[in-house]
Amino acid sequence: MDKIQSLTGMLDLYEDGDNNSLSSKIFETERRIKKIFSSYQLSEIRTPALEDTNLFKRSAGDVSDIVNKEIYSFNDRNDKSIALRPEGTASVIRSIIEKKLDQSTHKLWYMGPMWRYERPQKGRYRQFYQAGIEILGYKEGSPEFEIISIICSIIKEFNLQDCYIKINHLGNQENKEEYCKALTDYLEPFKDKLDSKDLDRLARNPLRVLDSKNEETKLLLKDAPSIKNFLEPSALQLLDDIKNQFGDICFIEIDHSLVRGLDYYSGFVFEAISSNLGAQDSFLGGGRYDHLCSKLGGKNLPSIGMAIGIERFASLIQDFTMPNKLVSFITLTSNLEPKTYKIAHQLRSINKNVILDTELAEGSLKAKLRRANKNNSDFVIIIGEEELAAGTAVIKPLKDEQEEQKIVSIEELFSFYKTI
Ligand code: HAM
Repeated sequence: MDKIQSLTGMLDLYEDGDNNSLSSKIFETERRIKKIFSSYQLSEIRTPALEDTNLFKRSAGDVSDIVNKEIYSFNDRNDKSIALRPEGTASVIRSIIEKKLDQSTHKLWYMGPMWRYERPQKGRYRQFYQAGIEILGYKEGSPEFEIISIICSIIKEFNLQDCYIKINHLGNQENKEEYCKALTDYLEPFKDKLDSKDLDRLARNPLRVLDSKNEETKLLLKDAPSIKNFLEPSALQLLDDIKNQFGDICFIEIDHSLVRGLDYYSGFVFEAISSNLGAQDSFLGGGRYDHLCSKLGGKNLPSIGMAIGIERFASLIQDFTMPNKLVSFITLTSNLEPKTYKIAHQLRSINKNVILDTELAEGSLKAKLRRANKNNSDFVIIIGEEELAAGTAVIKPLKDEQEEQKIVSIEELFSFYKTI
């Protein structure tokens, strides 16, 4: 029989007790990011993984790689074309329009899998997780600062090194049109030097040429006009203000060649980059998209958002220490004395910051201690027949070799546990 395996570019994530495995880092990243989102008073939104394919065609733009070649779409049993979402923004806006909430303001977050049929490589998967934010209904200004503040909080929480945030402004509709014309005029005489992909971008959305991976195009772009000269003073001021206010917390660089892979952006855009990621060096991206809601049939809803690629982000975390202490609880009573489980229950209720791992498997003390060590426990609590009869327990420190194990009364055990 053929072996059934996971699909190319799709990971199984499994928390295996090793704090430094990618899975453990991903799960812990998700937990901490959720806390940070809540501390900014963002509300959760959860949309379906499957959507009408037209949603992404209309939102991402038909020049985007996402729609052209990366979308996972297929016909359902009713012959309707549906797609696995490649990103979260379009679904959030679809949902807000459907609920007729597109006239109010919202501060939202989401977390979940996205799918893009890309060629898998380091940091690039076909199923990957994003943690995203969408701030809806606020015009340019305060939400830009709020989003950069959230990003800085997340980078600081995980103490990421060697990373920086690139910011740019794509101007208003008029600035953008004027700039696109200037860029097209500049590239026109070099058309024979552009590959078919860049020629297509030039014809359909010239800004996307700035994102070309072709070395010859990159060279040509060195002398191309910069969007800087087409922006309003207020746009340039916004970039300076953000850099001045947050540049001492996270490294921020104004990069006027930054464009995004999705067509819906206008105004302020950004990406966070790390030199430790290799070719796929952006672990987060976003920007303002004031026209997406009306383009999808809703009201005029100025909006800004961002999404973090969780796998890429988690892979950057070094020296990961779990915030909570881990204690293994070992019982050695031959008849699985129920009283010990009551003690474990009481311990959990007196200190919720400690993780208490009850050893469920039968076996010798040696085997159970081996497992506790492997799980990286800070302490073990041992209760055998003798201890149970005497109303005592053994506390054995596993991390600090200087510290001896001690026998304590159950009351002393509770007092000790409270202070961990
Ligand atoms: P994006 O730049 O396409 O933006 O994706 C955001 C992040 O998702 C990237 O920076 C990257 O870390 C991660 N990512 C993208 N593709 C892959 C992949 N194939 N494998 C692993 N990670 C990947 C968006 O998706 C926008 N919806 C962000 C946004 C929200 N803009 C406004 N609101």
